[in-house]
Amino acid sequence: MQKNLIDSHIVIAGGGTMGTSLVQIFAQNQFHVLLYSRKEATLQKARETIAINQQALVEQGVLSPEDSAALVSRVQFTNDKSCFSSADFVLENITEDMAAKHRFWEEVSALVPEDAVLCTNTSGLSITEMAKAVRLPERFCGMHWFNPPHILQLVEVTKGALSSDSTVDFVVELSKALGKKPVKVQKDIPGFIANRLQYALLREAAHLVESGAATLEEVDLACSLVIGMRYACFGPFRVTDMGGVDVFNSVSDYLFADLCDDKDGSAYMHRLVADGRLGLKAGAGFYTYDKEQIPEIIRERDTRYIKMVQCMDSFEK
Ligand SMILES: NC(=O)c1ccc[n+]([C@@H]2O[C@H](COP(=O)([O-])OP(=O)(O)OC[C@H]3O[C@@H](n4cnc5c(N)ncnc54)[C@H](O)[C@@H]3O)[C@@H](O)[C@H]2O)c1
Repeated sequence: MQKNLIDSHIVIAGGGTMGTSLVQIFAQNQFHVLLYSRKEATLQKARETIAINQQALVEQGVLSPEDSAALVSRVQFTNDKSCFSSADFVLENITEDMAAKHRFWEEVSALVPEDAVLCTNTSGLSITEMAKAVRLPERFCGMHWFNPPHILQLVEVTKGALSSDSTVDFVVELSKALGKKPVKVQKDIPGFIANRLQYALLREAAHLVESGAATLEEVDLACSLVIGMRYACFGPFRVTDMGGVDVFNSVSDYLFADLCDDKDGSAYMHRLVADGRLGLKAGAGFYTYDKEQIPEIIRERDTRYIKMVQCMDSFEK
């Protein structure tokens, strides 16, 4: 990796939800960044999404119109694989499928310079397993962001069995240079930290609705008003200390045995996917959306998250 980070040749690969958002973070932090995707149509959609995201940031006063325009000018788009041959840093955001990621890394790690740092934004696939396709795997580790990454602050940096300490340290420092708050995941464990917690909650949330205990709306509201608010402030261990470990211990003793422990994914989500209800992008998921309202829903999401980040930042002052 070049010593002068800001002059580095950054390539974000995969122009879907995450790649589109990630280029904005790098560009906002003065990096010139290239979004690589195989298809021109994907790149065109990425340009449109960036325009929507930027509008929300300007409306919220996070960026001035001039800074937003300068940010957009630092992003370039390409479907030409030759971009990898001069890359100093590659962050892969393609489909969450080990075989696809193996194919990608086998090809790309042979194209990049030997001192390039290589990262995957996998949500929880094994870094060690993925590294089997990477030439010189000591320069490879996990760099896991959260959607929308141009707003949410956590980055999980996961060390695979072959990742070097210097690679991990570099990615931690890069995350900080991007204004984020990195945590090191010391063990290459499926789902890392945040997704293990999120999916434990999602499994129980789906079970509550499936078993008729509550509606989607009621579960979402209970989560926002209690879990989301408390954990935004403190996290589970401090919240438990404040409530009394003895109390939480007594409840755990009878409640854990009753919690959903499905081992084969969620039957509820299997049905949604089979019905094409893939979420907002498809106009329907758990809920049904008016497709014309989707840009407005994304804007509203960004607005709320930005306000939350500003609020959480104020706690630290
Ligand atoms: N969406 C999230 O909330 C989220 C959060 C954190 C991490 N991630 C992870 O980030 C990665 C991307 O997720 P996403 O939500 O952006 O997915 P997405 O489906 O929106 O985008 C993936 C993109 O990669 C493209 N692609 C597939 N194979 C490719 C290849 N060989 N070369 C180049 N492009 C290729 C697809 O055409 C698509 O445009 C996944 O590993 C996912 O688990 C997603």
